[in-house]
Amino acid sequence: MAMTDVAAAGEHRGAWPFDIRPLSGLMAAEILDLDLAQPVGDAMRDSILAALNRYKVLAFRNQTLTAAAQAAFTRRFGELEPHVNRDFRSEGIPEVHPVNNLDENKRPSRGIKNIGNYAWHTDKSYMARPSLATLLYAVQLPPAGGDTEFADLQAAYDALPEERKRSLEPLRVVHSWERSRQKSGSKLATEDEKRDAPPVVHPLVRTHPATGRKGIYIGNHTSHVEGWPVEKGEALLADLLDFATQERFVYRHQWRSGDMVMWDNRCLVHRAIANFEMAKHARVLNRTVVRGDVPV
Ligand code: OGA
Ligand code: MN
Repeated sequence: MAMTDVAAAGEHRGAWPFDIRPLSGLMAAEILDLDLAQPVGDAMRDSILAALNRYKVLAFRNQTLTAAAQAAFTRRFGELEPHVNRDFRSEGIPEVHPVNNLDENKRPSRGIKNIGNYAWHTDKSYMARPSLATLLYAVQLPPAGGDTEFADLQAAYDALPEERKRSLEPLRVVHSWERSRQKSGSKLATEDEKRDAPPVVHPLVRTHPATGRKGIYIGNHTSHVEGWPVEKGEALLADLLDFATQERFVYRHQWRSGDMVMWDNRCLVHRAIANFEMAKHARVLNRTVVRGDVPV
């Protein structure tokens, strides 16, 4: 090994208490040597958070996690949330949401389930305190495909002309579970769900609480721009989402067995990709969500 390689390897090892490798030039990294079923101390928790702030998507490889172990790991990062949609509260642990394409007989379903997951969104932006992070653990994967895409809303913001940034800065956006369900063609929100999640308003340009970086805070849960005619606001938001989800801002995660993927909802939108035979193969994930701060 050349001296420079040794130095680079040493620096890399010194920076993080785990073996972490970038998955793309834009964002996302894999962590190869942690067992998340073991207790995670404060220092390790802080390093994982630092890596999340740096890479936005972390794929912990080769995990074996029960729902209880996933909930325990997630709880190290804050408060867990149940799902607004009551169909998604699992019997055993209500904070672990089953994400799968199975019907009531546990067979791959003919129709698309969770259709809202296939539209670009950031988790729970329809809440006053949206999610800090989501953790998805692959329980069962199709033989190929079933990918998840992430788009970097900070990189997209950075790429806007300065004048455009200034014009967006003062705008505030209404996010709504009810509107989101309409837009994605999902089963419409029930009265209970609407009561649990009334519309909320967030700044269009959001400052990340840990890094101070700015990003456009948008996605399928947006309804309109506060104080603007609804259609004009919808058009702006659709335009921005198109801009932010161009290939140059996107990382596509191809799941491997044993993956636990954790992502930062404060600066990304994500979506599931229907690139597998859904009526034939099972795709089963367990999901936990950490509550975050009020966006500013
Ligand atoms: C989610 C989600 C995407 C996927 O669980 O919040 O959007 O690929 N999942 O299943
Ligand atoms: Mn989601």
